[in-house]
Amino acid sequence: MEEKTVYNMPGYSWNINEKKYQDFYRQSIKDSDLFWETQAKQLVQWKKSWTKVQNWDFYTGTIRWYEEATLNVSENCLDRHLQKRADKIAIIWEPDNPDEPTRIIRYAELHRQVCKCASVLSDLGVRKGDRVCIYLPMIPEAAVCMLACARIGAIHSVVFGGFSPESLAGRINDSKSKILITADQGLRGGRYIPLKANADKACHQTPSIEKVLVVQRGKQDINWVAGRDVWYHEQMEKASDMYDAVEMDAEDPLFILYTSGSTGKPKGIVHSSGGYLVYTACTFKYVFDYREDDVYWCTADVGWITGHSYIVYGPLSTGATVLMFEGVPTYPDASRFWHVVDKHRVSVFYTAPTAIRALIARGNEFVTCTDRSSLRVLGTVGEPINPEAWEWYYRIVGKQRCPVIDTWWQTETGGIMITSLPGAMNMKPGSASLPFFGNVPAIVDDKGNVLQGEANGNLVLTRSWPGQMRSIYGDHERYVKMYFSTYPGNYFTGDGARRDKDGFYWITGRVDDVINVSGHRIGTAEVESALVLHESVAEAAVVGCPHEIKGQGIYAYVTLCDGYEPSDELQQTLRGVVRKEIGGLAVPDVIQWANALPKTRSGKIMRRILRKIAANEVESLGDISTLADSTVVEKLIIQKKQQK
Ligand code: WTA
Repeated sequence: MEEKTVYNMPGYSWNINEKKYQDFYRQSIKDSDLFWETQAKQLVQWKKSWTKVQNWDFYTGTIRWYEEATLNVSENCLDRHLQKRADKIAIIWEPDNPDEPTRIIRYAELHRQVCKCASVLSDLGVRKGDRVCIYLPMIPEAAVCMLACARIGAIHSVVFGGFSPESLAGRINDSKSKILITADQGLRGGRYIPLKANADKACHQTPSIEKVLVVQRGKQDINWVAGRDVWYHEQMEKASDMYDAVEMDAEDPLFILYTSGSTGKPKGIVHSSGGYLVYTACTFKYVFDYREDDVYWCTADVGWITGHSYIVYGPLSTGATVLMFEGVPTYPDASRFWHVVDKHRVSVFYTAPTAIRALIARGNEFVTCTDRSSLRVLGTVGEPINPEAWEWYYRIVGKQRCPVIDTWWQTETGGIMITSLPGAMNMKPGSASLPFFGNVPAIVDDKGNVLQGEANGNLVLTRSWPGQMRSIYGDHERYVKMYFSTYPGNYFTGDGARRDKDGFYWITGRVDDVINVSGHRIGTAEVESALVLHESVAEAAVVGCPHEIKGQGIYAYVTLCDGYEPSDELQQTLRGVVRKEIGGLAVPDVIQWANALPKTRSGKIMRRILRKIAANEVESLGDISTLADSTVVEKLIIQKKQQK
């Protein structure tokens, strides 16, 4: 797969061009301490300075940045802007329903709300180091609550509103959260999401939760547990608007965010305060070529890392105006994104390939009927962008005026790692381009040999960066094993990548058992565990399959227990089980009945073969001689045809 088209943007002007990028990059590698010290001084306000910029070891998984320095992240996002930007808009909130009024929150007001919210949480008993679970829709209160936790030094754990009560309970229990913040309901694409009802169900199994703080988003009747449930607006009304930010160590955790891995339950990714803030602020500034009068819109949900780093911490610490959108790209119709862009004169727009593909499917008229002249930079994140989607984004949405930046990173990396910088380098549709300052990626073969020049293999990072995750909550051993043991001395990303002759990186997707569905990470093991909970299921194997809009779909092979017969009804039941256990986002697109699964003689399921069958690539199954029973494969292919 060699790139066909390469674009440069001679018309795009700012102070970085390819030569400057190269020089700056080289310096950032040569004297990494100097680079990250300069960034830390420029971008973050510290209470106490560091004794050592970086101190890490990829063999033991010890990562420390800005040792002994102290700061408060919420102070960085709020207080320090008050002198110059008190009246600047911090958050523009655009509701799901375009007929509902927009909310505008200026920095002074955001500061006031965060202080009040910190007072509320503090009155409810939250102290430095406590965990607070946030299960909210895309409303400004989500950012307020995150920042309020940061102000107190409490560790937030935001759970995406699309997760089921079971998933929510699992995350609350793993983090032993004391308080749950939720809303009476969520609203997306005109549909209500019963967040409070989900929270109630979760709380049946969460002994650590002392109080449930409920934000009023709608007017639905909800169940109320006296003594446990507290209305957010009532508490906010009487709370003090003064709350001194707690001095935090740079290495104190700022938050936990659960994400799927290749095995077991979702893991709580732990991020630091100091290094994380430096890294998100720095990447935000350069990757989006940030300018003071920008209106910046990232369409992610705050329940994901993209929302944490590029709706809340990166932009607000930079003093940017952030647009926060409650809805979906196709409601009330497929013009919604572009109407919002025009309405608020959005200049920087950051979204996911899956959203782009969904909009392509609706036709160009929904785009071309809008103006979009305010746009300057277009970004994507979350999964590889196929060149067709890239071209559409560049030509139709951006009218060939706006650089498209494809940003590769992960929940674990905290911020953008490989990306182009707008106008600074050539753009190759489908390539995440070049490493961000300070980063040294490498491609290794399966044995761990580092490959030079043009190469194809596994993507690792050879040195630390300030935004790197510090641990898996409660399981540091798993952290070391997952990320540092596969290729000792390197951080293993779990992704495959190719590097071309220009040194550009092309991410080829996960090489582990994680699938990326609409930019959401789902562990195949989690879906399998959910399926086998049902009494009818003897065994299940889940793989990713190509999907036109979602990038990858979920393909489940299910072997039934004796006495159960395949039926459409049973398929629905099994989908329901996954929905209940994990959430709608993990429901299989395809369930294929399988008399047996292809296994090696030692009993290991050969997923490689299952992936090929799911993708209809049966001509290239590869070596199947190690299978215990090679007739299984033939039977699966026949069964697939019959099921269609
Ligand atoms: C994938 C989202 C190709 C990748 C920020 C990674 C990408 C996983 C890109 C992390 C991109 C993310 N090109 N693949 N630009 N961005 N990915 O933790 O497989 O939700 O490992 O973080 O998404 O997903 P996560």
